[in-house]
Amino acid sequence: SQVEKQGFRHFMLKEIHEQPEVMRACLGAYFNGQWLEKATQNQETQNQETQNQEIQNQETQNPLSPVQLRFSDDLYSDLQQVQIVACGTSWHASLVGKYLLEQVAGIPTTVHYASEFRYAPTPLMPHTLTIGVTQSGETADTLAALEMEQERRNHHQGSPQGGDYRPRLLGITNRPESTLAHVLPNVILTPAGVEVGVAATKTFMAQLMAFYALALDLAHHRHHLPSDRLLALVSALHQLPKQMEALLRDQEEPIATLAHEFVDTHDFIFLGRGINFPIALEGALKLKEISYIHAEGYPAGEMKHGPIALLDAKVPVVAIAVPGAVYEKVLSNAQEAKARDARIIGVSTIGREADMFDDLLAVPPVDELVSPLLTVIPLQLLSYYIAALRGLDVDQPRNLAKSVTVE
Ligand code: G6P
Repeated sequence: SQVEKQGFRHFMLKEIHEQPEVMRACLGAYFNGQWLEKATQNQETQNQETQNQEIQNQETQNPLSPVQLRFSDDLYSDLQQVQIVACGTSWHASLVGKYLLEQVAGIPTTVHYASEFRYAPTPLMPHTLTIGVTQSGETADTLAALEMEQERRNHHQGSPQGGDYRPRLLGITNRPESTLAHVLPNVILTPAGVEVGVAATKTFMAQLMAFYALALDLAHHRHHLPSDRLLALVSALHQLPKQMEALLRDQEEPIATLAHEFVDTHDFIFLGRGINFPIALEGALKLKEISYIHAEGYPAGEMKHGPIALLDAKVPVVAIAVPGAVYEKVLSNAQEAKARDARIIGVSTIGREADMFDDLLAVPPVDELVSPLLTVIPLQLLSYYIAALRGLDVDQPRNLAKSVTVE
């Protein structure tokens, strides 16, 4: 009803706007404010300390833990790999999770479609954490994949080489009353509140935050991250609610205007690299789901191996380019697309290089490693406004269900 939408035309738009609050809820639930305060103070007073002593110093001076997930050692000890099963948007969040678990915590991680994993699981490896990610906590394929994993590990007789094969299962869900939350002993609840729009927005944001918390917690436990980097990342996350509010305030109108240009477009390409590659996938999925426009997300460096053949003036390319490890690379991939007459829409910070884009969806300056939490928002808005202009039922797209409880 109109009352529930609080003046927004659709639930999806309302839920996009709830994201700064969801971020605040995640920060409060997952991170330890006292640790942040102490670590910031320590950094200010000990700027002269030598780098290599820093990790130990920081730990004795700040015995608190940055993250408050409170999992037992049983779950974390001697981890050799993480495997994640999920579907749809949750699968995209899991890909960002993989990037974080590998690059921040140093743990090899694989991400599987639950519907594939359940019939062709990876050969059993010891010391494995299995994570099931499902917003609803009811997706049949995800629940079945987790059950299969638990069973095969319980029945495993051990290998000649030994090793710990017991099931260590962790769920990430937005619904505390769901099947997933009931059947798994370890759960990260995402505090996004009920999401009505079929296309996931705020729950995706909260899933990403769950992965930041998990990866930083593991990095802290394993002493994998220098303390100044840990502090920088946790601080950057705490800046996000304000940055999101600024982004929503400054970008919504320009994006709503830009959307008019694409009402009759048939195909879109979304490009990203590194930690923003999954965001390219998510941008393409959002557009497909609610506007019924064909879209593909690609890692930008892979464009030359196929999708570049599609490009011409009728196929707009959305390029996510945030200063960091792959910035120059994405920009040069975008140049290649531009040379094929494609219209280039950049999701980027304002800077000299931004001139190369035909349209700029600006995000505030941000550490590349936390940037997905910002870059996804312009893509959500773009999909929303294109679909709304096409007069479509944004909250209830054809053929889709909020949760798929059958195989
Ligand atoms: C459905 C929804 C998607 C969602 C997917 C996985 O297909 O339409 O928006 O991403 O299920 O849902 P889950 O609840 O497992 O995250």
